[in-house]
Amino acid sequence: MTLSAEYLALIERGRKVLPGGVCSSTRFNQGWGAPVYASRAKGSRFWDVDGREFLDMSMSHGATLLGHAPDCLREVFDKVWELGVLCSLDGQYPIELAEQICEIVPCAERVRFTGSGSEATLHALRLCRAVSGRDKIIRFRGHFHGYHEFTFIGGHPPADQLDAQPPYRESPGIPISLAELIIVAEYNDFDALERLVKQHKHEAGTILIEPVDYNCGAILPEPGFLEGARGLADEHGLILFFDEIQSFAKKSPGGAQQDFGVTPDICTIGKSLGAGLPLSAIAGKAELMNCFKPVGDVAHSGTFNAPLPSILAGLAFVRTIRTPQFWQTIHSLSTQLSRGLNDIADRSPIACRFQVHGSRFGLTFGTREPVKCYRDSLCHRRETMLEFCRQTTARGVYFHDYGGGPCHHGFSSVHTPTDIDRVLQVVEDSLKAMG
Ligand SMILES: Cc1ncc(COP(=O)(O)O)c(C=O)c1O
Repeated sequence: MTLSAEYLALIERGRKVLPGGVCSSTRFNQGWGAPVYASRAKGSRFWDVDGREFLDMSMSHGATLLGHAPDCLREVFDKVWELGVLCSLDGQYPIELAEQICEIVPCAERVRFTGSGSEATLHALRLCRAVSGRDKIIRFRGHFHGYHEFTFIGGHPPADQLDAQPPYRESPGIPISLAELIIVAEYNDFDALERLVKQHKHEAGTILIEPVDYNCGAILPEPGFLEGARGLADEHGLILFFDEIQSFAKKSPGGAQQDFGVTPDICTIGKSLGAGLPLSAIAGKAELMNCFKPVGDVAHSGTFNAPLPSILAGLAFVRTIRTPQFWQTIHSLSTQLSRGLNDIADRSPIACRFQVHGSRFGLTFGTREPVKCYRDSLCHRRETMLEFCRQTTARGVYFHDYGGGPCHHGFSSVHTPTDIDRVLQVVEDSLKAMG
């Protein structure tokens, strides 16, 4: 991507006040070798500061499922102004949104709101530890649960650290003592999970799962795996925790627990919940959730919990996803995309694999076979992914680079069949150019 002198000057200015010129480390696009600076966004498009238009296939990592700047947000902002912003004050609207979530998410009987998904998993894990009385967590390679000290361990280890003990810490600064609290399992390997549960049930109180592993190329649970995990949790007295920050409302309103018919004890939901504004939630069984103060004794508070703009945006989002037309659109675009990508993968000169679930999909280079677990994804070629991102953005379609990792991409409900056709053409042309 050739950046104008003005763009380069803005990067220089940014670097003087923001580390790397970015507000989130992954916003430095390794394919471009530069941060992607946007000037505005609407619907399925955004424009960079040079005025280049991109058909967006990141959609804020899944947060803007209704498209950028959906019309419903205009009413939200007007109402927020009318009601006086209501910062750090509860009232009718968080109750209304919690009621809606309890109606659509199978495990939800009580809800607590947080801002980011990382915050949600942090507080939910504290609750799980308090209730189970056991500090260790069983989690899976390839799954992602946020950037904090309790979850950024063992998720994406390099090939030579798969079985490291204590598990691989994904950033300097994470204390080794916390890694000792994490037990790492391979997704979709029920026998291994059973062995770990039996071995550690006296010290591990929680099984934490990203039920659709979007953060490693959209790996789906094998038939029976989630049911098996549910059975193990029941039999051995562990809490089953689905992290649905990403999988919530991607194929059905109730998330992966609805898609696969397995109900956890607790879950976290987020990303698209705020229609582009920061909003996540912890939702779960009443007996568990009522252990939060002031009913129980587990702390969960925050000045910015449930801010009015995000809550009203959440209500607008939930209203939208409760209409049949919304899901007709998502399913029809998903089918079109999935068929097209699979055909392209068959013809591609470069081995690649697309895995689609609802409005998002993963892309793994280096294989044409199903990717069923983290080990399968180790064949992925990071350099090929970065080149793919360069090729597609040069053709006006934006795929986020994720540092070259096999992550996830997706469309919104305002992408059109014509947009999807264009994406397919650009993907095919890009792969040909790389072959
Ligand atoms: C499954 C999952 N959990 C947690 C998070 C962290 O959410 P946030 O980026 O809002 O902190 C993410 C973000 O990608 C996620 O996909």
